[in-house]
Amino acid sequence: MKIVRSIAELKLEGDVGLVPTMGALHDGHIALFRAARAENDLVVASLFVNAAQFDEQTDFDAYARDEARDERIAADAGVDVLFAPSADEMYPAGFVTWVDVEGTGGEGVARPGHFRGVATVCLKLFNIVQPRCAYFGQKDAQQAAVIRKLVRDLNLDIEIRVHPTVRDADGLALSSRNVRLSDSERERALALPRALQAAIGSADPVATARAQLNGMNPDYVELLDFDGALLLAAAVRVGSTRLIDNVLLKGELR
Ligand code: PAJ
Repeated sequence: MKIVRSIAELKLEGDVGLVPTMGALHDGHIALFRAARAENDLVVASLFVNAAQFDEQTDFDAYARDEARDERIAADAGVDVLFAPSADEMYPAGFVTWVDVEGTGGEGVARPGHFRGVATVCLKLFNIVQPRCAYFGQKDAQQAAVIRKLVRDLNLDIEIRVHPTVRDADGLALSSRNVRLSDSERERALALPRALQAAIGSADPVATARAQLNGMNPDYVELLDFDGALLLAAAVRVGSTRLIDNVLLKGELR
């Protein structure tokens, strides 16, 4: 695997599959790398902790960073090129152009500026890497929806693939932030996947999940239309860690 740290060094040929990440890689990222490996000549993973999408400085500071570990995991999963640009090159002095996808639902309301940072960095990565396909996880369904809208509204010639959420054996969705949970917080966090699971097939999924999350004060519990599929999504805070999750209620993810 080649590690590339500047845009000028990035020379790619053939059909490229891009997996944007912020590192702290886990089996959810690995599933995206493998999906990209199966469908492209060349797999590029980006590794960039994008300050522009963090709405809380403490969350940015606490974000797990271990590049040596990420390099091993990406190489083992079949990534050809790990693109790890500097913040100075991605956001040089005088950077003033932002992409704002509107109507981002409860997650967008709960995290002002977050999706602006995500959409902007992803558009930059798409322009730099010029992939045929880019891979995103269902775990961040609102993010995947924002990227689909960006591609449609700005006529980008890129396929956006969405991969189902990878979970731990106990049902908790894998997330780079899970390492911050204490044992007792992790036990409490299981209420989130359990509440969403309990809502599947219920006449009023939002009310069912809300009732199960009683006492956890979710940022939102809401239905999402994802390109014709219906998802139920929620966000809760457990201690100082914010967790999001969603389940498919109807249709299929494309
Ligand atoms: P990050 O949190 O590193 O996630 C990178 C990709 O992995 C995202 O598409 C995310 O949805 C996916 N992912 C995370 N956990 C997953 C899980 N348990 N199962 C399946 N997929 C999972 O999301 C970001 O980074 C950033 O916002 C980024 C898109 C890189 C832009 O900065």
